[in-house]
Amino acid sequence: MSRRHQILIVDDEVANLRLLRRVLGREYEVLEATGGQEGLELLKKNDVSLIITDQRMPAMTGVQLLEQSLPVSPDAIKILLTGYTDVQALIDAINAGHVYKYIPKPWDADELKLTVRRAIETFELKEHNIKLIAELKSAMGELEELSMGTIRALADALDAKCDYTAGHSLRVSRIACLIGRELGLPISDLRDIELGGILHDIGKIGVPESILWKPASLTPEERDVMRKHPTISAQIIGDLHGLRKAREFVKHHHEYFDGSGYPDGLVGTNIPLGARIILVSDAYDAMTTDRPYRTAIGHDRAVKELADMAGPQFDPDVVNALLKIAEGGAAELNRRIHEDFDENFLGLGVGSVDAKATGKNFKAEVDRQTKAVATE
Ligand SMILES: [Fe+2]
Repeated sequence: MSRRHQILIVDDEVANLRLLRRVLGREYEVLEATGGQEGLELLKKNDVSLIITDQRMPAMTGVQLLEQSLPVSPDAIKILLTGYTDVQALIDAINAGHVYKYIPKPWDADELKLTVRRAIETFELKEHNIKLIAELKSAMGELEELSMGTIRALADALDAKCDYTAGHSLRVSRIACLIGRELGLPISDLRDIELGGILHDIGKIGVPESILWKPASLTPEERDVMRKHPTISAQIIGDLHGLRKAREFVKHHHEYFDGSGYPDGLVGTNIPLGARIILVSDAYDAMTTDRPYRTAIGHDRAVKELADMAGPQFDPDVVNALLKIAEGGAAELNRRIHEDFDENFLGLGVGSVDAKATGKNFKAEVDRQTKAVATE
């Protein structure tokens, strides 16, 4: 059964109200008011789909009533009844932008019925659209939350695969965010950088462990395999709507400022800024943690190395930003990585697995969380 809509009719002449009720009362629930103020009161108490008002009324004109009805019934369709002489009122009403239609007086009953039916259809369509948009927004929100959790679990799974890099993705992500903040980037960019940082090496999931763990230099063939990881990372991220920018950062996080990097040999500012930031963060973290092929060189040497390579390899502005946030030394930077993000920075859904707290159970905890996310 279709819904019975409420229509408010406002006219200072009672005879006109009766006439309108006779035409519309069979199909709709009609509410009557003899003035604007009374009409507004009825709007507050009811769920009105359509307002039909006379223009010429003593205390408040129809246009004024329609204007004042906006905050109370923003979605109600509005129809103005005017004589041909009320041209200015008509222009005002149309300029105010909220009048669906005007009906010249005297009106014809069949035409009025038809206009009202169309108006109600418009109202229903609008209402339906509003509902759809709300549903879509909530679905997108859920999807995004789920993706964030999945992303975090994926990154942790990767860190578990390369045991020596436990927590690497998260640290890179956070150092990158600190650099981004230092550069004064807006929060939306920081979010993309955070995600890019988390995902930058996800493509290494496809690199054999014999290469990842090799305690010696790679052969040219092995290096080729290794060099595919940014492209594979980008492919894994795919077309997820919220990750378009992050994907670009990931794809280019091994491009060097002088164009000697990969995969595309981009030069200077043609490399997305987020990618330049992730490169510096990645390099710092790699130099300050032990790897199978070498031990950590420590904070001071790492910082010097970055400064030396600013220009050919790294964006000098990005290196300067890192130097600033690393001024207090390794311990201070480490503290910021862990403490500056206690607000669950920018909404990553699943709390990351803390390598220190979980110790030997790190991998088991990662597996557990990965499964939990997958079955959510
Ligand atoms: Fe990488």
